[in-house]
Amino acid sequence: MLGVIRNMRFIIAKDKKELGTKAGDAILALVKGNPEAILGLATGSSPLEIYDRMAEGYKEGVSFAKVKSFNLDEYINCPIEKETYRAFMETNLFSKIDIDRKNTHFPDANNPEAYDDKIAAAGYVDLQILGIGRNGHIGFNEPGTSRDSKTHLIPLTESTRKANARFFCNDINMVPTEAVSMGLATIMTAKKIVLVANDTTKAEPIACLLRNESTLDVPASVLETHPDCDIYLTEDVYLAAKAINGEVK
Ligand code: F6R
Repeated sequence: MLGVIRNMRFIIAKDKKELGTKAGDAILALVKGNPEAILGLATGSSPLEIYDRMAEGYKEGVSFAKVKSFNLDEYINCPIEKETYRAFMETNLFSKIDIDRKNTHFPDANNPEAYDDKIAAAGYVDLQILGIGRNGHIGFNEPGTSRDSKTHLIPLTESTRKANARFFCNDINMVPTEAVSMGLATIMTAKKIVLVANDTTKAEPIACLLRNESTLDVPASVLETHPDCDIYLTEDVYLAAKAINGEVK
């Protein structure tokens, strides 16, 4: 571990694989200790190595049969079925472990706030995995999102749609224009947060977290007030963020 800024612990790994192993081991330890753990899951590239480690853990004997999961977000009107976030989770995690599909949850665009009630009724998320957007978004909470926000519908910004066009035949016009996402207040109800940044395009928002600067312009900075937040960074991201902050490498 590198250091603690307020309640955020920064953990640095040499590369994506090592980062995924470290963060994945933390999740496996949680599930071993509490087989009924409630996990908050994310899609995108950031958690892939964590999911690989969880799949390995399953092969080594850790069971997810009683685990419940709540995904952060889902597209609305996604034109390519295999690009829905449920399909992503099926491919990258659910099909590789013994989780019971009826215990896996995604927000419902027709009744967004019911998701917060469902999470509360389950006893709240024990550990929420987060990636971070280049603009500092978490879930699909884009800059300016209220910190009081619960699960809600969100128009996607040009920057986020551009970043995701790679999954839609590199055609931004095919990228959905709206999503449903846990809000910042929903995310903050998780008992523990594990945020992963493993590519240097995320250096700007990570630099903001390292400065301990709290601003609605960087939605992830709400995590500075979370009581139990681990930030996993690859070394290149850490060095790039330090350089942005004018610190010597
Ligand atoms: C995905 C999500 C997003 C991503 C973020 C980073 O469920 O909520 O906030 O975590 O856009 O995406 P990647 O990991 O693809 O760089």
